[in-house]
Amino acid sequence: MSAQGSAAAPVLSPEQGRAVIDPASYAQWDGLLDLFDTLREEAPVARVESPDGIHPPFWLVSRYDDVMRISKDNATFLNNPQTVVFSLTEGIEFAKSLTGGSPHLVASLVTFDAPIHMKYRRLTQEWFMPKNLRGVEDEIRTLAQATVQRLVEAGPEADFVKLVSAPYPLHVVMQILGVPEEDEARMLMLTQQMFGGQDEELSGSGMAAMTPDQITQLVAGAVKDFEAYFARLTAEKRADPTGDVASIIANATIDGEPLNDRDMMGYYIILAAAGHDTTSASTAGAMLALARDPEQFARVRADRSLLPGIVEEAIRWTSPVQHFMRTAAEGTEVGGQAIAKGDWLMINYVAANHDPAQFEDPRRFDAARSPNRHLAFGAGAHQCLGLHLARLEMRILFEALLDRIDSVELAGEPARAKSTFVGGLKTLPLRFAAR
Ligand code: HEM
Repeated sequence: MSAQGSAAAPVLSPEQGRAVIDPASYAQWDGLLDLFDTLREEAPVARVESPDGIHPPFWLVSRYDDVMRISKDNATFLNNPQTVVFSLTEGIEFAKSLTGGSPHLVASLVTFDAPIHMKYRRLTQEWFMPKNLRGVEDEIRTLAQATVQRLVEAGPEADFVKLVSAPYPLHVVMQILGVPEEDEARMLMLTQQMFGGQDEELSGSGMAAMTPDQITQLVAGAVKDFEAYFARLTAEKRADPTGDVASIIANATIDGEPLNDRDMMGYYIILAAAGHDTTSASTAGAMLALARDPEQFARVRADRSLLPGIVEEAIRWTSPVQHFMRTAAEGTEVGGQAIAKGDWLMINYVAANHDPAQFEDPRRFDAARSPNRHLAFGAGAHQCLGLHLARLEMRILFEALLDRIDSVELAGEPARAKSTFVGGLKTLPLRFAAR
């Protein structure tokens, strides 16, 4: 970091700035956490410049209290004016050229502000509440048990990500959207191209050799495929509504009008995309913590009441959604730093959820952590719509696992995905004894 005079804003050094925006540094977790520790102390609201203009400048916000405050003040910190996920200038320009001026390739809940945001959110909010979710618990349990069965059959060694944590949340979210099982592989590929796109192994598309523009084109192609797919689904759900989320969206009206195509597609896409890589990452993280700690595994096998604590801590500890961006609606101040109208800010959930001022020994997985008011689901008007579903599906999966698995240990080195946005393990080799 270089301090340019006492009144000047702290600016990250070029190496620090690169580390914050480089997908590869999110695969090297400890180094990244070290960097955030330094920044929280020395420059909790720091400017990330781009002398070569490859990305617009932004403020990196790394303290828990500041991330919380920004998240809750949805009038001062907006989602719509600029992209809500960190993007390179080329990508932003490409999105604008495709959409006719909007920086958002997909218009969805996360890109809306008040008053439109609440109108859209209200359509499905009730569906995602615990009371309604009780109605889908049995279906989710059936999926969890079938997933664990496949793991057991593949044993005694298997990659947990490939067999369990990647496919299971995808099955769940596809089921609630009403997408038939035979189409799931296609959906997985599309969401990985959209959101795992920075990791060449995950996207399976040799992206390492691509320019940012080529990557953006690939993402745009994925959006188009999604749109074509969901246009068909909408027609079906209008003809024959079945009570799932897709039927609600297909038949919804706002101010008396049905949703237009772009908004409707955006709704499906955000649910399909937001619902699985995220839960997959926290599920794999929970398993990693248990595989490393046989005593904890034995304790929770004997006492299932420990499961909710494990699930919550896994969500904090992994922080699968690593950041979102906001834009200042007016001149303001964050953590003592003046912010100008129109400035772009990165609220970094990984940094906030590892802030020692809020979490004692934050790198330790502590299933008994209490309170555990983490920010992995965000806060304020955009707080994760699927948070009850995510917790529920993780708890049900671990119940099914604990019913069948007697012991578990690592069978190799786990590896993290290269991604600045949604991140987590891409492999978790396990050895286990099953019943
Ligand atoms: C562990 C799993 C998950 C994590 C860590 C996670 C995290 C997040 C975060 C950080 C946000 C933005 C919050 C903010 O801006 O304040 C968000 C929004 C959202 N999430 Fe999740 N999520 C998870 C699972 C799910 C699931 C299962 C679904 C549904 C299928 C879902 C649907 C959404 C939607 C629709 C939004 C946008 C809400 C809005 O803008 O109003 N998420 N999530």
